[in-house]
Amino acid sequence: MQDRQKASPFVVVSTPHMHDMAARCCALIEKNHGELFPHHRVPYKVFANGEVLPLIPETLRRQRVFLFHALQQPTPNDALMRMLVLNDALARASVESITLVVPFMSYLRQDRKHKPRMPISGRMLADLIETNAKVERIITADMHADQAQGFFGIPVDNLTCLKLLAEDGRQRLGHNLSDVVVVSPDFGGAVRARSVAKRLNVPVAIFEKRRDEDGVANVDYLIGESVAGKRVIICDDIIDTGGTMDATAHALMHRGAVSVDIWSTHGVLSGSAPERFAQSGHRVVCTDSIPRSEAYLAEHKRWLSVVSMDVLLAEAVYQASLVGGSVSQLF
Ligand code: R5P
Repeated sequence: MQDRQKASPFVVVSTPHMHDMAARCCALIEKNHGELFPHHRVPYKVFANGEVLPLIPETLRRQRVFLFHALQQPTPNDALMRMLVLNDALARASVESITLVVPFMSYLRQDRKHKPRMPISGRMLADLIETNAKVERIITADMHADQAQGFFGIPVDNLTCLKLLAEDGRQRLGHNLSDVVVVSPDFGGAVRARSVAKRLNVPVAIFEKRRDEDGVANVDYLIGESVAGKRVIICDDIIDTGGTMDATAHALMHRGAVSVDIWSTHGVLSGSAPERFAQSGHRVVCTDSIPRSEAYLAEHKRWLSVVSMDVLLAEAVYQASLVGGSVSQLF
């Protein structure tokens, strides 16, 4: 412990939407490993014209920082700028290093030029982050596509929450899973759905999804196990407007599914998604990769359940602090 103090101590820094998650992770690390990571909360001043200024409350000189930040709120664009200016402030405050802990990384769906004159915004996001040489590592979860790790020149720990969702699902679905099928709404999610199906030891089916226009999902062809008479779990990485899940659930009920549950790591739930799900009668299960207020959770508890990824994140942070620590052992 004495040696580690000399060799740059670890601290946790969080921005407003992630204060609770960061505090829970620090408490879990202390409880499970007896290590105390001091936690600093950074507020922002917002100027009249909308510019933001992070206010780091005390000296962090030579400390190794785990920065907990939400890249979705208040908006992805604002959140990105808030993170970049804080990275700059931390570097200028002479921290030793920064590990970004961003459970949901926005912009990663824009990962290829699928039409003329399109940006590859995921790659641009990586470039912007890496302009700060103090940022040495990223801890995130269920990136839209694993290969997006290649956008970054620094190590990325891409945690998966599928184990958490499957464990939670086992309790919800009961002992007998012989009538359960896991469905992916598109080919891109097939590996994810197979992984969940394997954990539950149930079969899998995959829809072919196409978007004829932006924001409108069409699912026509189902490949694999029949869903007639089955309880179905649709599994995806992101629920944004809910259009994909809604169209998939409709198609499944039309094919004779008995019930549909909706599981996803990242509950973006933008636009009219809450109203859509409240009316649908399907249970939606997400993680808290995108933090929500108590009031939000209470308002939507009829259709929304949240599984916390705090244990996973805490352990990933702790392992990342160790020489020879392993994150892959967590899943
Ligand atoms: C896209 O391929 C993703 O995996 C999700 O299916 C998509 O982002 C969900 O978006 P929405 O809820 O707006 O249909």
